[in-house]
Amino acid sequence: MARWGIVGLGEFAQKWAKDVFENYKLEQNAPEQVLVAVVSTSSLAKADQFVRDLKLNQDTSVSTFDDYNQFLEADIDVVYVAAPNSAHFSLAKSAIDAGKHVLLEKTFTTSHEEAVILQKSARKNNVFLLEAVWTRFLPSTKKIWDLVDQKTIGDIIQVSADLSHLVPYEPQQRLFNPDLGGGVLFDSIIYSITWTFGLLRSKSSNYTTTGLTVASKSGVDGGATVVLAFPDLGAFGIATGSFYGESPPYAVTIQGSKGTIYVDRASRPSKAIVHVHGESERELDLNFEGLGYFYEANEVARAIKRGDLETELYPVDQSVEIVKILEEIRNKSV
Ligand SMILES: NC(=O)c1ccc[n+]([C@@H]2O[C@H](COP(=O)([O-])OP(=O)(O)OC[C@H]3O[C@@H](n4cnc5c(N)ncnc54)[C@H](OP(=O)(O)O)[C@@H]3O)[C@@H](O)[C@H]2O)c1
Repeated sequence: MARWGIVGLGEFAQKWAKDVFENYKLEQNAPEQVLVAVVSTSSLAKADQFVRDLKLNQDTSVSTFDDYNQFLEADIDVVYVAAPNSAHFSLAKSAIDAGKHVLLEKTFTTSHEEAVILQKSARKNNVFLLEAVWTRFLPSTKKIWDLVDQKTIGDIIQVSADLSHLVPYEPQQRLFNPDLGGGVLFDSIIYSITWTFGLLRSKSSNYTTTGLTVASKSGVDGGATVVLAFPDLGAFGIATGSFYGESPPYAVTIQGSKGTIYVDRASRPSKAIVHVHGESERELDLNFEGLGYFYEANEVARAIKRGDLETELYPVDQSVEIVKILEEIRNKSV
């Protein structure tokens, strides 16, 4: 059983918690998942309302807090940190120092230095740490990555993935607010680059990176492209994202020497077309259960039960490396 606590009680945390605690049993042999505590950094009333809105069907009651240190003294195994990016480091570091396992929302941290500190602290304190890139744990992602590994489309030449949303400009809102760690690199590119990491970086550590961003009115990056070139593999990974438009209907293209796989969405793949040269196209229905967040939460619970400090499905080294790449591109903004 995993006993969860949540900090960062926004809209997303509500969606995530509903999916995890209502749907985790949809996966065969899932470990029991129980919410035991939530904390609002602004008011106890907000924490109480968060729990009421969840309408959980579990025997255990949920304790509510407005003090993070008191929350960390509760009987929690793992803290899910769903606060804005700029608050990730301090909330995760305190949880780790209190001996709690941590599932930390994406993007891991807003600086490479912070990412390294979190990784070292988790190891030192013997606690599990994972960045919540839920795409990595979806059965649909696994099916596509397995197809590629089976060389269905030959050797990979290029992986390109886009995650774009038309976001109304609100300078105070998290996505455009520099003080909350806004910007498309931290919000969307983390998903696009997952495809490069899963399909190319997993096969070679020899790569060079380049990238460009376009600044929004608030100064944070509103559009970005990150390219990784792998000379050993003769392949490119291209990750793009924007707040100024929507992704195309097939946002991920995996181009190989024998064919191409087109995937509908970079963050939540549910449909793919496999086109092998000289054969007719195959459409794969990859729909999954619920909203899909419970797969990552179940992996956290399983890893903790195994006594693992990270999961091989998304090692912390990769989160740290990606933050380094994003930081480099961010500093090179045009
Ligand atoms: N996996 C996904 O698909 C997905 C989707 C959306 C967002 N996210 C991630 O989830 C995280 C939260 O996103 P969101 O849109 O829910 O953010 P949000 O609404 O701006 O903030 C969530 C909550 O965090 C709490 N918080 C704690 N420290 C804070 C601080 N220093 N400043 C402001 N708020 C603070 C606030 O609640 P209290 O005042 O009650 O503490 C706030 O309501 C981000 O890291 C984002 O990248 C992931």
